Amino acid sequence: MTYDISAILLDEEKIEKRISDLAACICKDFENKTPIMISVLKGSFIFLADLVRSLTIPVEIDFLAVSSYGNSTVSSGVVSIKKDLDVDVTGRDVIIVEDIVDSGLSLKYITEYILKHGAASVSTCVLLDKPEAHRDDIKIDYLGFEIGNDFVVGYGLDYAEKYRNLPYVAILKEEIYS
Ligand code: IMP
Ligand code: MG
Repeated sequence: MTYDISAILLDEEKIEKRISDLAACICKDFENKTPIMISVLKGSFIFLADLVRSLTIPVEIDFLAVSSYGNSTVSSGVVSIKKDLDVDVTGRDVIIVEDIVDSGLSLKYITEYILKHGAASVSTCVLLDKPEAHRDDIKIDYLGFEIGNDFVVGYGLDYAEKYRNLPYVAILKEEIYS
């Protein structure tokens, strides 16, 4: 698996430290509240697991799955729901937990989807952002790291369903997907 990696971008220590900073901000902003953390499957499952264990406020957790990539490294631009919410978000504070923002189309779609379902507030917590790739105005309230336009894997992120279990975020060799 590591043969397919050209460089480690963020190691475990760096990720852990940044997540505890993000968790501290969330705890402060949501003091005396019980937000619903909505993890966007599958890429954010490891981020969610580490993030919620650093929180000292009560939270509820739900999952949503959307699709716009298939087995490609480029967004198709059309977002669709593959697994819907189980909890009722009406009147609730929601924090969307997403692995990475590239074009931003997924996050925008999900934010609007949750607002449409009557959430009182929607915040976004994103581990990685590729600002150069945005195709729209994207609101990220809690951001882990800004990165360049490389395709990255590990710490939950995949290429064709592989590499999610790498404990760090790494740049995938271009020859793997070109
Ligand atoms: P967007 O809609 O173009 O912002 O794409 C967001 C989704 O595409 C993310 O939630 C990821 O699942 C996937 N994605 C975008 N860039 C990468 C990457 O570099 N590695 C792995 N997945 C990515
Ligand atoms: Mg994702």
